[in-house]
Amino acid sequence: MDLQAKKTALRKIPHGVYVVGVKQGTQLNAFTATWLTQVSFTPPLVALGIKKDSHSLEMIRSDRVFSVNLLGKSQKPLAEHFVKPASVVGEKLKDVPHRPGKTGAPVLEEAIAYFECEVREIANEHGDHAVVIGEVVEAGAPKDEPALTLMDTGWHYGG
Ligand SMILES: Cc1cc2nc3c(=O)[nH]c(=O)nc-3n(C[C@H](O)[C@H](O)[C@H](O)COP(=O)(O)O)c2cc1C
Repeated sequence: MDLQAKKTALRKIPHGVYVVGVKQGTQLNAFTATWLTQVSFTPPLVALGIKKDSHSLEMIRSDRVFSVNLLGKSQKPLAEHFVKPASVVGEKLKDVPHRPGKTGAPVLEEAIAYFECEVREIANEHGDHAVVIGEVVEAGAPKDEPALTLMDTGWHYGG
C-alpha cells in the first residue's frame, strides 16, 4: 500500500468537530473529538472513536454515559480549549459555562445543539481507539446555525 495515499484518502473523510462530555461520579471532563457517526435509526445509536489510553475513556467505562456538543462556525477556540489533556491542564470545564444533562454528563451552554448517550457497547479489540456505541436518550438544538467541521478548522485527525 502507498502509505501517503492511505493517509491522504483517510483524511478526505468529512468529519464534524465536537466537544464530548464525560463523568465519573462527581468528576466531569470534556474533550474535542471528530470520529463520530450515527450507526442506527432505531434505536438511535452513534459510534464514537476514543483513544484507548485516554482518561475520558476510563470515565466512560465507569459511568457509561457521554454528551456530544456541536459547535458553531465561530467556536473553533472552544474546540481548541478541549484538545488539551486534563492530565496537563487540569479542570477544563472550570471557565466554560455548562450544566449537567439528563444523564449527568456535562452539556455546554454555548453548544448549538447537543445529545446525550447511554453506552450500549464498547468494541474495537484491534484498534488504538475504542469504538463506543451510545444510544441517544436526550437531545436539544437551541441554535439554528451550521455546525463547525474539521475542514473549517484546518486541523487533521486521521490518516
Ligand atoms: C482535531 C482533533 C480531533 C480529535 N478527535 C479525537 C477523537 O475523535 N477521539 C479521541 O479520542 N481523541 C480525539 N482528539 C484528541 C483529544 O481531543 C485529546 O486527546 C484530549 O487531550 C483528550 O482529553 P482528555 O485527556 O482530557 O481525555 C482529537 C484532537 C484533535 C486536535
